[in-house]
Amino acid sequence: MSEINWAGLQQAAQQAAAQAYAPYSKFPVGVAVLAESGKIYSGCNVENASYGGTVCAERNAIAAAVVAGERKFRALLVYTPQQLLTPPCGICRQVIAEFFTPDAPVASCNHLQQQQQWTLGELLPAAFTPTYLANSTKVGA
Ligand code: THU
Repeated sequence: MSEINWAGLQQAAQQAAAQAYAPYSKFPVGVAVLAESGKIYSGCNVENASYGGTVCAERNAIAAAVVAGERKFRALLVYTPQQLLTPPCGICRQVIAEFFTPDAPVASCNHLQQQQQWTLGELLPAAFTPTYLANSTKVGA
């Protein structure tokens, strides 16, 4: 399998962060995902006046890829112009686990060229995945 194009992911994530709609938090986030097809998709956070309507950059990047027909992914990179490197939030970890394997790298970088990397399995051990639904036994149905 080919090397992961981290430079391409970083460029895409940084460009996406520049489009972030974050008037409330003033915390722009850009995310790029590498699909198994080799294509890169990106997303930014889109906030809402009703704060709970906010959607994170991770979920928007994955949704953009899914609507293009992608279902499997190799890597995800978060970009935030923050000193503290930002990992995906809990809800996004669950959404990432739907499409990425536990050994997939999930990385975070910033404007200072710092980078930190985890595997999805480290960020969300014992994830609830589609496997559990596929193997379920319907009781009382
Ligand atoms: N946010 C993301 O887009 N991704 C993360 O991984 C962390 C949080 C967004 C949500 C909200 O718009 C802002 O960052 C502050 O929480």
